[in-house]
Amino acid sequence: RTARFTLDPAFTVGTVDPRLFGSFVEHLGRCVYTGVFEPGHPAADADGIRGDVLDLVRELGVTAVRYPGGNFVSGYRWEDSVGPVEERPRRLDLAWRSTETNRFGLSEFISFLRKIGPQAEPMMALNLGTRGVAEALQLQEYANHPGGTALSDLRVEHGDKDPFGIRLWCLGNEMDGPWQTGHKTAAEYGRIAAETARAMRQIDPGVQLVACGSSGRSMPTFAEWEATVLQETYDLVDHISLHAYYEPLDGDVDSFLASAVDMETFIEDVVATCDHVGARLKSRKKINLSFDEWNVWYMSRTQEQVSALDWPEAPRLLEDSYSVTDAVVLGSLLIALLRHADRVTVACLAQLVNVIAPIMTEPGGPAWRQTTFFPFAQASRYGRGEVLDVRVDSPTYATAKYGEADLLHATAVRGEDGAVTVFAVNRSRTGPLPLDVALNGLGLTSVVEHSVLADADPDARNTLDEPERVVPHAAEGTTLDGGRLTAVLEPLSWNVIRLA
Ligand code: AHR
Repeated sequence: RTARFTLDPAFTVGTVDPRLFGSFVEHLGRCVYTGVFEPGHPAADADGIRGDVLDLVRELGVTAVRYPGGNFVSGYRWEDSVGPVEERPRRLDLAWRSTETNRFGLSEFISFLRKIGPQAEPMMALNLGTRGVAEALQLQEYANHPGGTALSDLRVEHGDKDPFGIRLWCLGNEMDGPWQTGHKTAAEYGRIAAETARAMRQIDPGVQLVACGSSGRSMPTFAEWEATVLQETYDLVDHISLHAYYEPLDGDVDSFLASAVDMETFIEDVVATCDHVGARLKSRKKINLSFDEWNVWYMSRTQEQVSALDWPEAPRLLEDSYSVTDAVVLGSLLIALLRHADRVTVACLAQLVNVIAPIMTEPGGPAWRQTTFFPFAQASRYGRGEVLDVRVDSPTYATAKYGEADLLHATAVRGEDGAVTVFAVNRSRTGPLPLDVALNGLGLTSVVEHSVLADADPDARNTLDEPERVVPHAAEGTTLDGGRLTAVLEPLSWNVIRLA
């Protein structure tokens, strides 16, 4: 059976905030060291930033970059990470049982972002696990105050005359998780988040603040956590965070392919919770969502790896290698985010390099694109503008986790120039999916491109030895005629159909 939907410019979801295409650099494994930063590498510049990685980061199209964690941030002492490198202390990183050398710190991170280009903006996480209001204020003053105070002058003395201009701040990380150093109850966290937010706004009322939501929808405190935290912070914060990672469990690939069903439910549940608190407070303000950690992550393998560590520097950790199937799921997660662009205004693919990442590197060697690189890069490039409301009529398939799920998952974005890009996933592992889209009043006359990521081997992946084994290819037979788009989506495929 054919999957169908209608596009009409009168029916829209909302405008895409560019920060939906954010990413995440954590001091974890080799994300920073031998990932982004590798002094002495043939492609590294004078600051030790790898130029080959920088090129791929630009091509990926990342916007907001969250830093320095993650779980790492709950032990982070910002002052260790600034000033003369030779004087910076080595510290135990409790989150990842590693040694942090602090050779790469705040100033190096900001300089990395400036090298990416103006589209990249910092999203700085604060340590509310082992530290509190005072340290958050000190970091804000050091980073953002122009000069004439002890901490801002210290930044200038350290070589950074211009303030870092950090607008977006995370009030801690995953504070609901028992694994988090300094884990808190919702009431305890709500209080420290509110106090920190209030004080930060005394320095700068314009800061944008993200309160910690749940670290997953399956957390026992989910929803109650958000409600309690927002009751304390509603007027003081702009966003609440969501984190979600997906993997096939017990070989259940069909449910894995429908992971976006869970992601969309999670988003809708958090929106409902935010709006419920808003109603209780009789507030007209809306809290937006920052999906600041999301990805495919073979997490069930991680705990064992971390417990076995004996405080190494930059160990190989969480270096998942992604297949075509993983890329199709990641594309579907991107579709889920775009479909909720009215409320999800920040999202960060966790993470950027080496650690569950679209970009991989070899120390002293090359950098390459994982399969998951392509859907992200294409969505960031063509997914800017107004999201059109897509309601699919699709054949379904049975999943153990989510019951009957649509074979087609899709969204469409209309750019400022009127061009429309359809992003679509065929979840079927066995058959092609015919697609028929009615285009009402959009003035579209041609198919510019139909790009597909699919492979006869759904387990195919890019590796150090074969870095270009999987790349998108052009689909055949896609037509636009008399206001109808018709295409056939290959089995297990990610599709980008550009119309003008
Ligand atoms: O992204 C990896 C880890 O996942 C982060 O450090 C943490 O916030 C989450 O649990």
